[in-house]
This record gives sequence, structure tokens and C-alpha cells, in this order.
Amino acid sequence: MKKMIFLVAAALIMASCTCNKDESVATPSNAEATMATIMNRKSVRSYTGEAVSDSTITLLLRAAMAAPSGRNIQPWHFVVLRDTSRYTAIFGEDNFNMPMFKASSAVVIFCADTTVTAPPRDNPQGEAVTRPNGLWRDDLGACTENFLLAVESMGLGAVWTALYPYPERFAPVKESLVLPDNVMPYCAVPIGVPTGDDQPKDKWKPERIHYNQW
Ligand SMILES: Cc1cc2nc3c(=O)[nH]c(=O)nc-3n(C[C@H](O)[C@H](O)[C@H](O)COP(=O)(O)O)c2cc1C
Repeated sequence: MKKMIFLVAAALIMASCTCNKDESVATPSNAEATMATIMNRKSVRSYTGEAVSDSTITLLLRAAMAAPSGRNIQPWHFVVLRDTSRYTAIFGEDNFNMPMFKASSAVVIFCADTTVTAPPRDNPQGEAVTRPNGLWRDDLGACTENFLLAVESMGLGAVWTALYPYPERFAPVKESLVLPDNVMPYCAVPIGVPTGDDQPKDKWKPERIHYNQW
């Protein structure tokens, strides 16, 4: 029995040493930081008016582009907007999100290339063909969430506002930003320094978890 306890203890010590050697492996402390970021993320709709720098936005987009995507197609493109005088044309006169867009420091338009140009799946050596990418919405959702989590981790605030699938929202954006036919504006994300008015919501519902069957 003593020998068994010793072996288990030795294995645990060795495992923790391996983790510490490789900083990319999750440790309890970075798991805590990740959980805190996820649980504290909230839609932020009121901003102080302070600026968010271009370099910070680049860093946030680095997080966005690290998202998973079907077959690693990475269909995303981003348009970063700062010029509020163009917002009425871009988002449409009646856009109810306009006050929020104008009060933010920048608005990032998440766009998707809705096509894939690659060799046919059944002939990987064949000539590239262009076809619809059935997973672009999923890819853009993962990308947007990555961005929002990075925003939270930096103490900034943002909110996902839908463009697709509403033609009255995505059509003026597509036209005024002169997006190619195969590129769909998916959502608009205003970013700013939060006033602190927006707080995370408790969404934990254990009754939604089903084990083995419904
Ligand atoms: C697909 C999607 C579309 C959304 N569209 C809008 C929108 O158009 N305007 C807006 O103010 N918030 C929008 N939101 C934000 C939601 O209202 C918000 O995520 C939800 O109320 C939960 O609040 P939380 O983000 O603070 O947890 C959207 C969120 C998602 C995921």
C-alpha cells in the first residue's frame, strides 16, 4: 500500500514538472484567468469616450484570427471603422445601434468570404474550383467570440451586433464598404473603454445538461 502511495505521488510530481517546463500547457493559474475572462465577458454598450489604439485593435484581431474554422479555411476579413461621419451611410439612417457605434472608439465589421477556392475534395491534386463554403457562419461566430474574449481580457468593452442575416442591416454595409459579391458582412462590433454600467449575467442552468440521453 505504502509503495502504491509513493508511486502515485511520484507520478503526480513528475506530471507537474512536465507542465511547468512547457508554458503552453494549461496550469491551474492560467485556467483560472481564462475562466475569469469567460465568466466576466458581457455585452458593453456604454463607453467613456477614451480611445482604443490601433495596436490594441491589431492585437484583438490576432485573437480573432486564431479561431478554429472548418477545414481551416479561415474565411474572415475585417474592416476597421473610425470615421463616425460615414456611419449613417454605412449602417443606414434608422439603425437603432447607431448611438452605440458613434460613442465607441472603433467599429470592426467582421466579414466572411462565403466561397472556398480549393481542389475538389475527392481529387486533392485536381485544379482549384470555387464553391460555397457551408461553414462560414460557424467560422465567423468562433472568430467573433475569440475577439470578444480578448476584449474582456484587456479591460475593454464591446458588443456583437448582428448584420447577417438581416438584409436591411447588411445591404447598406456591403454597398458602402464596396465589398466583393462573395463577401458578406456578418456582424459589427463597437469597441471602447467601458463605463462600468454593463455587468455579466449569470447564465448557469444545470438543468440544461443531459447525461447519456435527454
Ligand atoms: C448572434 C448575435 C447577435 C446579436 N445582435 C445584437 C444586436 O444587434 N444588438 C445588440 O445590442 N446586441 C446584440 N447581441 C448581443 C446580445 O444581446 C447579448 O449577447 C445577450 O443579450 C447576452 O448578454 P451578454 O452578451 O452580456 O452575455 C447579439 C449577440 C449575438 C450572439
